Amino acid sequence: MSDAANEYQGKATMEKITSLAKRRGFVFQSSEIYGGQNGAWDYGPLGIELKNRIAGAWWKEMTQLNDDIVGLDAAILMHPRTWEASGHVENFTDPLVDCKKCKSRFRADQIPEEKLKEKKCPDCDGELTDTRKFNLMFRTHIGPAEDTASVIYLRPETAQGIYVNYKNIIQSNRMKIPFGIAQIGKAFRNEIVTKNFIFRTCEFEQMEMQYFVKGGTDEEWFNTWRQRRWAYYEKLGVKMDHLRWHQHGPGELAHYAKEAWDIEYLFPMGWRELEGVHNRTDYDLGRHTEYSGKDLQYIDQETNERYIPYIIETSAGLTRNLLMLLCDAYDEEQVAEKGNDDDWRTVLRFHPTIAPITVAVLPLMKKDGLAELAQDIRRELKEDFTTDYDQSGAIGRRYRRQDEAGTPFCLTVDYQTKEDGTVTLRYRDSMEQVRVGRAELAQLIRKGIKEYKRIK
Ligand code: GAP
Repeated sequence: MSDAANEYQGKATMEKITSLAKRRGFVFQSSEIYGGQNGAWDYGPLGIELKNRIAGAWWKEMTQLNDDIVGLDAAILMHPRTWEASGHVENFTDPLVDCKKCKSRFRADQIPEEKLKEKKCPDCDGELTDTRKFNLMFRTHIGPAEDTASVIYLRPETAQGIYVNYKNIIQSNRMKIPFGIAQIGKAFRNEIVTKNFIFRTCEFEQMEMQYFVKGGTDEEWFNTWRQRRWAYYEKLGVKMDHLRWHQHGPGELAHYAKEAWDIEYLFPMGWRELEGVHNRTDYDLGRHTEYSGKDLQYIDQETNERYIPYIIETSAGLTRNLLMLLCDAYDEEQVAEKGNDDDWRTVLRFHPTIAPITVAVLPLMKKDGLAELAQDIRRELKEDFTTDYDQSGAIGRRYRRQDEAGTPFCLTVDYQTKEDGTVTLRYRDSMEQVRVGRAELAQLIRKGIKEYKRIK
């Protein structure tokens, strides 16, 4: 095990996360009945709720809380010249080697240096092929003819859709530099090695924000965005000792970047990139000017100055964030000492803003009108919160099921509810239970979300 994995403080392992994700309907392997499709995953009922909420939290942070950032949803299929201009056709490659004996395939930069020098397979010591460059873009054809004129790519990053629209947005929304454009969407990469569940996949989603600034102010904005992105994870309640910065050295920098820092998270398999903050300079807009022949200079209306803006990019994986938040939330806690399985609970300590279900309503019994009463209370809360209803099994079991789904609030409806209209509100993290009136419920839950502080 690597040193980083030894440092790991959480209780999650990739096996536990993968199994919980499948069992509870967060994530399923794509096309499982056919043996599964490598590098692709499907998001089940809890997974899609979680993903939408993570996307929603990011979108709010970027657009709602920043007057100078607007949104965009560009097409996945773009004119192929885009990718020549961006440098992806030429440079977006991984070094690939194959083992002639066991036929395993590796990224050369992920093999121990010694093995690569000796051209020996790290798995079986068989002979390795020479290293060759492999372009990560998925290529396909548009229209019926499969010739070079019809080649089209699935976008490997969402960023380029923003760059080619930057003038449209300035014109339609009267944006003035500095300003940003945010986008969430699918991206595709023909990854050589896809492992660790949804960490690195061929089809994934990104949450990217491109901030357009004047050259000379770029370094200051770069630092500002680094701080903001760090603060964002703190606000989401992520364990901050599981986050760190990693600066890209000269050999690591992408072809477009002058400076790049990753926020890394301590996953069960070690420290890995979660999000990148990049100073892309005027590279992208300069290249699009050259390849499109269009003038992409910004005109400062006050000074009449014209220039190609610099771009500060914050680029996070949405699906990778989902994996991070699952690992970060995962906890196993001893709650009793009776010597049976129920002594322990598995709990996902999601921040309530991202929890897939906010409130679960549980009637103590199905009979005596309690189920109907509970359904009625659920109906009242539905407009404001995502709710769940569960009437099967012992109440303790039902709490455990909700803990495992990360539901922050449970409401239990019992005989007293019939008498005085109060219910038991149970908090997921502390398991504290309070008796509250039906009329106060929505307000209390809202308060619980707003004032949430992680206790473990
Ligand atoms: N536009 C810049 C860009 O795409 P990147 O570092 O290649 O930069 C940004 O990717 C983020 O996208 C990564 O930090 C990661 O969270 C996510 N990401 C990249 N490749 C991925 C993959 N194959 N599977 C899942 N997420 C990926």
